[in-house]
Amino acid sequence: MAEVLIEIRGVNKVFDLGKIKVHALRDMDLEIFRGEYLSIMGPSGSGKSTLFNMIGALDRPTSGTVTIAGVDLATLSSRELAFFRGKHIGYVFQTFNLLPAYSAVDNVAMPLVFNGAGEERAQARAKEILERVGLGHRLTHRPDELSGGQQQRVAIARALANEPAIVLADEPTGNLDLHTGEEIIQLLSELSRSMGVTVISATHDHKMLATSDRILWIKDGRQDRLERREDLNIRVGTVK
Ligand SMILES: Nc1ncnc2c1ncn2[C@@H]1O[C@H](COP(=O)(O)OP(=O)(O)OP(=O)(O)O)[C@@H](O)[C@H]1O
Ligand SMILES: [Mg+2]
Repeated sequence: MAEVLIEIRGVNKVFDLGKIKVHALRDMDLEIFRGEYLSIMGPSGSGKSTLFNMIGALDRPTSGTVTIAGVDLATLSSRELAFFRGKHIGYVFQTFNLLPAYSAVDNVAMPLVFNGAGEERAQARAKEILERVGLGHRLTHRPDELSGGQQQRVAIARALANEPAIVLADEPTGNLDLHTGEEIIQLLSELSRSMGVTVISATHDHKMLATSDRILWIKDGRQDRLERREDLNIRVGTVK
């Protein structure tokens, strides 16, 4: 039986800009299962990043609740939220967001040290996970000495370093060519399966959907439809 890891109930997000209010999410209801790979699709401005920020405990909804592993995020103080994020959630961004002055291994070791691992342990673990994402031969390279795809692999290694339950990837392939993008999605999907991590990824690219277990389509801040991969394959098959 699939276990619900994340529960989103009646979530609305309104950005109040004084004269105008932007209703970025409307009545979102969603359950996300432990270990699944969920893609979020929708046009620019449809609310994907806003939804990510709610799930990733980076921002709070205007109304409604987000519950992760039984914890209602609204009950946590900002300090507790920061701790919760560090322990349970890894983030991957379109622009990689690596620290430019640090080597690959130091970028990955950093969140481990923040979470209390000793320097030596953190370095050993960082090396291990970089090897796992295929970068064992680039440990001491700085971000500007790596290709875009390699930088994104470092970011994925960093996101997974603390063995989070959830990895949130917002347009992880947006700055990569098609082939490299496919490799990155494949890597995320493999890691999701082998490590049991729940991956939630936003993408504009329909070709990236084949690895997802489910796809949530959003439009104007609302759930448009929710599909399982099996159903999608049939549709893509008939379109071709
Ligand atoms: N901090 C903010 N203040 C005001 N409005 C915001 C803020 N963040 C997002 N919005 C608005 O909320 C809506 C949803 O934005 P969001 O960034 O979630 O879209 P998105 O689906 O991620 O788009 P993209 O594909 O371009 O990244 C947009 O209309 C946007 O202008
Ligand atoms: Mg976005």
